[in-house]
Amino acid sequence: MNYRHAFHAGNFADIFKHAVIALVLEYLKQKDTPFAVVDTHAGLGRYDLTADEAERTGEWRSGLGRVLASSARPPGVALLLKAVAAVNGGQKPTAARPPRWYPGSPRVARAALRAKDRLFAAELHPEDSRALEREFGGDGHVVVKRMDGYEAIKAWLPPKERRGMVLVDPPFERKDEFAALLKGLKDGYRRFATGVFVLWYPIKDRRPVDGFHKNLAATGMRRILAAELLLRPPSDPETLNGCGLVIVNPPWKLESDLACLVAELGEIFDAVPPKRSGHGQSSAVWRLVGE
Ligand SMILES: C[S@@+](CC[C@H](N)C(=O)[O-])C[C@H]1O[C@@H](n2cnc3c(N)ncnc32)[C@H](O)[C@@H]1O
Repeated sequence: MNYRHAFHAGNFADIFKHAVIALVLEYLKQKDTPFAVVDTHAGLGRYDLTADEAERTGEWRSGLGRVLASSARPPGVALLLKAVAAVNGGQKPTAARPPRWYPGSPRVARAALRAKDRLFAAELHPEDSRALEREFGGDGHVVVKRMDGYEAIKAWLPPKERRGMVLVDPPFERKDEFAALLKGLKDGYRRFATGVFVLWYPIKDRRPVDGFHKNLAATGMRRILAAELLLRPPSDPETLNGCGLVIVNPPWKLESDLACLVAELGEIFDAVPPKRSGHGQSSAVWRLVGE
């Protein structure tokens, strides 16, 4: 387990993913009934942007840094910035006063929970899972466990609330991660077919992504959206050229928010216009499988 998210926290991919989960949770809150969030690859929970790891790559500067420097507030981004403020003692982040702490996905989720909602977070790395346990120690709304994220899907689904979101955000260190992600989704969907599943994937080379989409479409599951943000054409398979999210059972209206989010983040991050992304669609947000 070599991947450490501390080098990448607050980069363009985090902003995209975290804005989307903040939006999904906002939609879930439109109903009064409680929900659960399951975060299968949760990371540390919060990241120090002044630490050596973050300083060494500087990735957050071209992610969160650019967002703070822009006046645009695409859907989900204002919600994300609230979560950023929450881990910085309520201090509103600005370009002139960038925050010290950036929230990981469990902190973004936690910022959205109501008193009746719960968060389940799995992390396998020994040090990171200990840090995550400390982060949420004494918080009765959060369950943290050191375990494999795909096992967590089997252990925690369905939640007793029977409503909620499952985030699957693996590090893609394994050669077979796309296959594992697909299997994890099938396992989760079998247990919790009404849940909203959000899966993150890197776009280095187009081929494995297209294969993943094809396999998703063949599962028989309905209502699957894909949304992608490409910084450059995916011609160098050694580089993170962009990233995508697959959302199963997206809340109604999420699709139009996503289109707006991708377009506006695209401008903030100088991304490649969607029609050149090569997935054969004229948009960077599309239905892999319809109703
Ligand atoms: C991309 S990072 C997660 C970032 C986090 N979801 C966020 O958005 O803030 C992936 C995390 O998965 C952890 N990890 C790696 N293999 C895992 C596994 N099999 N099960 C659970 N966690 C794992 C890594 O240690 C790393 O912290």
